[in-house]
Amino acid sequence: MNVVISGSGLFTPEQSISNDELVAAFNTYVERHNQAHQAEIDAGTREPLQPSSSEFIVKASGIHSRYVIDKKGVLDPEIMAPRLPERPDDELSILAEIGAKAARQALEQAGRRADEVDLVIVACSNLQRAYPAIAIEIQQELGCQGFGYDMNVACSSATFGIGTAADAIRSGSATRALVINPEICSGHLEFRDRDCHFIFGDVATAVLLEREDACQTDGAFRLLGTHFKTRFSNNIRNNFGFLNRTAPEARDNRDKLFRQEGRKVFKELLPMVTSTIDEHLEKAGFAASDVKRFWLHQANLTMNLFAAKKLLGREPSAEEVPIVLDRYANTSSAGSIIAFHLHSADLQSGERGLLSSFGAGYSVGSILLEKV
Ligand code: COA
Repeated sequence: MNVVISGSGLFTPEQSISNDELVAAFNTYVERHNQAHQAEIDAGTREPLQPSSSEFIVKASGIHSRYVIDKKGVLDPEIMAPRLPERPDDELSILAEIGAKAARQALEQAGRRADEVDLVIVACSNLQRAYPAIAIEIQQELGCQGFGYDMNVACSSATFGIGTAADAIRSGSATRALVINPEICSGHLEFRDRDCHFIFGDVATAVLLEREDACQTDGAFRLLGTHFKTRFSNNIRNNFGFLNRTAPEARDNRDKLFRQEGRKVFKELLPMVTSTIDEHLEKAGFAASDVKRFWLHQANLTMNLFAAKKLLGREPSAEEVPIVLDRYANTSSAGSIIAFHLHSADLQSGERGLLSSFGAGYSVGSILLEKV
């Protein structure tokens, strides 16, 4: 039985922060911080903080701007974090709200009603609470049937979620599945750390999966296969969790937000990504040259161009490897789905594309698709 992605959706926050705006806020914070600790810096007992620069950010990452849900808090040198007031339990939570917006678009594109969906998976890096599942809240908000659950494979959550949903449809435990990726990455980012303050943005994406023989829309994408790899690494890590309160002395330490060893990640993850995709294509009986488009995880421009060059054995064209990180930044699991949503409509019937995620775990996901 063939499974297709019959619709996709994208929610983009209204507010965007340019590198210059971000750097201005960061450098004001640095100036104030250094002034406040001038005596220790002069005595040589404390290192002064170093300023950031837009040139570095563009050169190191390819990011020019990022969308965020709360720009004001992030750019306030006294706060340097989004401010998203807590909502009462009887109000829709913010993750469910943005996820539902993306999901409604995916349903509309697929020509489906919410009550025809019987599986809702929320797959993302950061879930805003322990339980009940955000997926079940979205199930209720949209009016879906069946069941829902949350899953987290960090930046690979979306592709792993698509694989899980496709398996559920093939096995008969579901007939139609929404895989939703609400990513409020600004919430786990230390905007006071110049090594990473520029990396992330906020967004939500969604795809609808169903049986090809039941699909009602033109332009669906058939899943030709999936391939996944994980290997443990501490190089991208966030120790936030429900046990933090059991060690109050360390509760607010730096390790309770995103941190990474960017250089090591680059060096170790890139070969894992290209070998996983190579293995996948070989398993499916295709060569990289049979793939018209690579919708890659959007973390770093150089990394994506490197990966595509390694796979194709030549420089990729801009059309072959669409880049959205220049204005969305790294949106964790949603990145490759944004690229797919914005850059898939022009593919012709029979043309193939590959969705690939990579990130913490380490984790790599690969989904081979063919336009129906
Ligand atoms: N402004 C100016 N200089 C900065 C800076 C900033 N904001 N941040 C760091 N620097 C400095 C560093 O201190 C370092 O200085 P040094 O050489 O004197 O020590 C230099 O610039 C290079 O820093 P480095 O962290 O090695 O930069 P990089 O070229 O590796 O780029 C990343 C950093 C994070 C953009 C890059 O490593 C990356 O994207 N890696 C892959 C990440 C990834 O894919 N993650 C998976 C998903 S989360």
